[in-house]
Amino acid sequence: MKGLASFVFGVIACLQTVLAGGFKPFRFCQLGDIQIGFGLDGWQNDTYRMHLAAQQVNAQEFDFCIAVGDLTNDRFSYEIQAFQDTFPEFEPKIHLLPGNHDISNVATLKQFSVDYNVSDHGAFSQNGYRFIMLDSITLISNLTEFEGYTRAEWQWFEAELQSAAAQGEEIIVAHHHLPFEFTEDEPDSYWTFPNRVRGQYLKLINKYNVHHILVGHRHETKNIYPTDNSFTIYVVAGTARFFDTNGFGINYFNVASSDSATGVSQEYVHLQGVTHMKRSLGLPNGCPDIFAH
Ligand SMILES: *[C@@H]1O[C@H](CO)[C@@H](O)[C@H](O)[C@H]1NC(C)=O
Ligand SMILES: *[C@@H]1O[C@H](CO)[C@@H](O)[C@H](O)[C@H]1NC(C)=O
Ligand SMILES: *[C@@H]1O[C@H](CO)[C@@H](O)[C@H](O)[C@H]1NC(C)=O
Repeated sequence: MKGLASFVFGVIACLQTVLAGGFKPFRFCQLGDIQIGFGLDGWQNDTYRMHLAAQQVNAQEFDFCIAVGDLTNDRFSYEIQAFQDTFPEFEPKIHLLPGNHDISNVATLKQFSVDYNVSDHGAFSQNGYRFIMLDSITLISNLTEFEGYTRAEWQWFEAELQSAAAQGEEIIVAHHHLPFEFTEDEPDSYWTFPNRVRGQYLKLINKYNVHHILVGHRHETKNIYPTDNSFTIYVVAGTARFFDTNGFGINYFNVASSDSATGVSQEYVHLQGVTHMKRSLGLPNGCPDIFAH
């Protein structure tokens, strides 16, 4: 039976490739803030929900997933240990991004790579798409100690965009902070890129025809659009805490064609098996500050 099922799936996958003109469709997922230690029902329950997310992801045929930062809340050793112990449960490759709770200075920037065995930013290609994963902490911070990292990351981002464009790849960008929440010209807030760098970022997004941006940080689940609707910012709350009424969940993406403007579809799916859905009673406080005042 299993053999027959995989044969049928194989034939369907092959047909899809033919119908898409040689393009091989793929699927990926967006995990929000895993942030072990932030849930109101305790870090063990955050860890349990991470485990549920792994089970849910494994039951799908994703080529990979991207976790959009804030892996733990406080970087306490027991939180990092819980993350490291649960992470291998995910079967597909999970690309990890940092959030402001992971990195807030150069020491924690270096520690991030030690704790998770990954760079704070990076890029990879999949079936004609280039995924650019940015460290939005160093990108948008004006802390003096980040200066060299900030400059290097902007240069790297632009070089990566150029190289993807030169190779005819469609581009999808992911990072922790929201570029903006409601309108491109809104004032600075805790959640978003400050105006100091927002325009520079949006210019690149437009220049390189980026249509999809994956973010976390907000602990809400929604899609945000610019005035001209040229791209979508996908925000997903994650598995530790949500501030809206959309609960815990995962964004599923299906990439059906080599045109990212029309070929990418998204579906929000609630986290399955959750018995405790504790809601935040207010905004977080005491979060690591990545700006110089
Ligand atoms: C954490 O989850 C467990 C198992 O679902 C549950 O029994 C417990 O009450 C939860 N803790 C809190 C503080 O809600
Ligand atoms: C760290 O990452 C490298 C390259 O992805 C991998 O080969 C290695 O096994 C990883 N080490 C650990 C301890 O996971
Ligand atoms: C750094 O950026 C923050 C937020 O964008 C701003 O409030 C602050 O004035 C800036 N500080 C310096 C020293 O430029």
